[in-house]
Amino acid sequence: MVNRNFKDQDFRGYKQSTVPKIDEGLSRTDYKTPCGEYLRRYWHPVALTSEISEIPKEIRILGEDLVIFKTTKGNIGLVHKACLHRRASMVYGKTEDKGIRCCYHG
Ligand code: FES
Repeated sequence: MVNRNFKDQDFRGYKQSTVPKIDEGLSRTDYKTPCGEYLRRYWHPVALTSEISEIPKEIRILGEDLVIFKTTKGNIGLVHKACLHRRASMVYGKTEDKGIRCCYHG
């Protein structure tokens, strides 16, 4: 016969279970982390071709903020989101035939 009174049952498994700790070595993929450095040695699909246009699109891969875009000649480009000059967002950049131009100082 099944005991249907759950208050009387002792669910030892629930009381003893613990949430395992996060394995920092495997779960962190930011720049300069062991797993991040390992994964950066391989190619990764980061966007669908249908998603990429001459309007820059912000993506986040392996903890890095990037901007993907298509040049006016149809080539695909991927750059860091922050401009190297004064860290303006390249999401607002202007795509040209050879790349992307920063919106702030060009
Ligand atoms: S911030 Fe991009 S060129 Fe100055």
